[in-house]
Amino acid sequence: MSIKPLIILPDPVLRQVSKPVERVDADLRKLADDMLETMYDAPGIGLAAIQVGEPRRLLVIDLAKEGEPPAPHVFINPEVLESSDQRSVYEEGCLSIPDYYAEVERPASVRVKYLDRDGKLQEIKAEGLMATCLQHEIDHLNGVLFIDHISKLKRDMVVRKFRKLAKDKVPGKMVG
Ligand code: NI
Repeated sequence: MSIKPLIILPDPVLRQVSKPVERVDADLRKLADDMLETMYDAPGIGLAAIQVGEPRRLLVIDLAKEGEPPAPHVFINPEVLESSDQRSVYEEGCLSIPDYYAEVERPASVRVKYLDRDGKLQEIKAEGLMATCLQHEIDHLNGVLFIDHISKLKRDMVVRKFRKLAKDKVPGKMVG
């Protein structure tokens, strides 16, 4: 397994729409394992393949709390079948937008079908943090970021800040 570099705002790669996975093979499982390792290292609770520069419809999630055993989930070609009318608000962050958090309102529960890491068709009725996390990560597969769900004023401020950071980055310097 290896840790992959994360794609950071305002990199246009994050706006790409990812392509469906055609075959669940050893190659894809290795990518999923690398993504999990990258996510644990960050640390984060969810990661989409596009965030490590792979435009494939694949994401990983682990909601285990500190001190709990890891509970990795791999979702391939996930598709929202149903969203609740009831909505909930979570403070969200993103490994591609480090150190920025904002409240986002989304459907409180979703029914999602996907392939697991063995290529088997599965369905999950997700609620709470899992529902929010799945929607956040599926957004990534469509080139959508959580800052697209906040006010334009706030979004413009964040994008400006990250544009400036990217410009000021000294080559060879570790920025984190
Ligand atoms: Ni994210």
